[in-house]
Amino acid sequence: MRFKIWLICILLSVTYLGLTFAGKTTPKIGIIGGGIGGASVAYFIHELLPNARVDIFEKTGLLGGRLNVSMILGNGYETGGSIIHPKNKYAVDLANKFGLEPRSPTGEALSITKDGEFIFNTSKWTIITIIKTLARYGLNFNYLEATISGFIEKFSRIYDFQKDGKTFRTTEEMLEAMDPMLLNLTKYEFKGILQEQGLSENFIEEMIQAITFVNYGQDLSIHSFVGSVAAAGAASSLWSVNKGNKQIPEKLAEDSKAKVHLNTGVTEIQRLSDGTFLLFNGKRELGVFDHIVLAIPLDASEKLTFTGFTSPPYDYPASRKYHRTVATLVAGWTNDKYKFRSSIISCVPNWYNSISLIHPTILLVAEKYPVYKIFSPKPLTEKQLDSIFEERHHVEVHDWLAYPEYNAIPPKIPNFILAPRLFYLNAIEWAASAMEMSLISGKNIALLIAQEQNEI
Ligand SMILES: Cc1cc2nc3c(=O)[nH]c(=O)nc-3n(C[C@H](O)[C@H](O)[C@H](O)COP(=O)(O)OP(=O)(O)OC[C@H]3O[C@@H](n4cnc5c(N)ncnc54)[C@H](O)[C@@H]3O)c2cc1C
Ligand SMILES: *[C@@H]1O[C@H](CO)[C@@H](O)[C@H](O)[C@H]1NC(C)=O
Ligand SMILES: *[C@@H]1O[C@H](CO)[C@@H](O)[C@H](O)[C@H]1NC(C)=O
Ligand SMILES: *[C@@H]1O[C@H](CO)[C@@H](O)[C@H](O)[C@H]1NC(C)=O
Repeated sequence: MRFKIWLICILLSVTYLGLTFAGKTTPKIGIIGGGIGGASVAYFIHELLPNARVDIFEKTGLLGGRLNVSMILGNGYETGGSIIHPKNKYAVDLANKFGLEPRSPTGEALSITKDGEFIFNTSKWTIITIIKTLARYGLNFNYLEATISGFIEKFSRIYDFQKDGKTFRTTEEMLEAMDPMLLNLTKYEFKGILQEQGLSENFIEEMIQAITFVNYGQDLSIHSFVGSVAAAGAASSLWSVNKGNKQIPEKLAEDSKAKVHLNTGVTEIQRLSDGTFLLFNGKRELGVFDHIVLAIPLDASEKLTFTGFTSPPYDYPASRKYHRTVATLVAGWTNDKYKFRSSIISCVPNWYNSISLIHPTILLVAEKYPVYKIFSPKPLTEKQLDSIFEERHHVEVHDWLAYPEYNAIPPKIPNFILAPRLFYLNAIEWAASAMEMSLISGKNIALLIAQEQNEI
């Protein structure tokens, strides 16, 4: 009898302690990287675990990472990630919530070039563009659109899963839950899948390859999941955030109430014997955390040191490299060859991927000269710039390690969980790199942390 009461007392107190612990404990979460991904983890954590103490460490002096605006002759232009799909639910909802205005690109005069020759031009008259497109590509556009809208519909299932609190340990698991077909797409080269769908050779090699070059700087040897994301990025009604996409990460961080440490790169993560983590910036200790989120691309060009782990959580395999895309912004006048064309895309490997007339996202003064953005695999030479421009009044170069190299098929995608309580947001980029992908991964990691926290 006494024994039973004693047992019940223990059980009760354990439950009681457990409840208070889960309810009152303040987990310390360290987020490494202040791009849209890291900022979104802070925001979603604040929604799920309002008690958590969150610190964001950002190496540079600015939040936003691969989203950035550059001021040129008084106006601001996007230099990194710029377009958002209308079906990207998180980006749409967050922009609404933060009162940010969408901005639509103006009607573009698109041309495709092959070895420097213009092989396809749209017209300022829609009807002529339609006739030209039908003449060269038949109904291929319609077939592609049908496939892509099916893809987007399946992809959108992620929003229901996450609303219900479902979590994923790997990107593969996530894609498979959306639809086994989406995971299957990562296992095949894009070109083969397009051929299998009966699209014509010239449409594939000209139009679709131009799209993969402009969006990911790579040809059709990429896997078909990222290829499909690129193709979706050629839809109509794309948008961007007026006054700069990087306002999304800025507002996310602000709303999250997280403590933001700028100019604070993390160089070492040390696992302590109790399972917590000590972060370092060089020799300087940045604090001890219960959970760590890596919201940075783990690229061998800049290695983070892991100490105190029984086995290294990440070993920088040679098969996982980031692709270099150089964005050169030029204010000036082009020569006759490039005049009147607002977007020129090469459909074969070339010294440029695209040359686009861009409009300021921050418009403060009348533009004195048109501004062009050129994407290229390497920095442009003076001679190459001379071949496009008659006059250059301002030139700026943004050299990005932009997104993964997608030619390994299937991609070797790291897990979201690298070690107990050590999470890797940018693993998802090996399926596809995009702002919305980082937001989805951010939500998944916040849910994983909340789930662990509530299980204590
Ligand atoms: C040229 C270009 C064009 C693109 N176009 C589009 C587009 O049109 N649409 C689209 O959706 N996506 C586009 N993308 C991709 C998109 O920009 C990225 O997928 C997205 O911004 C990634 O966000 P992130 O927060 O995951 O990573 P990042 O933005 O890379 O953020 C990582 C942050 O971590 C910081 N950091 C790195 N190492 C450390 C460290 N050791 N300690 C502390 N901080 C560190 C970095 O400074 C950075 O701020 C484009 C990218 C590029 C480069
Ligand atoms: C972002 O733009 C600012 C202003 O032009 C610049 O100082 C900074 O270096 C840029 N950051 C990156 C990562 O390009
Ligand atoms: C496209 O336009 C350019 C000039 O802007 C012209 O030189 C070229 O011949 C045109 N090509 C086609 C296929 O219409
Ligand atoms: C995966 O895709 C390939 C290529 O389209 C197809 O042949 C195969 O049947 C698919 N497998 C599954 C399990 O859906």
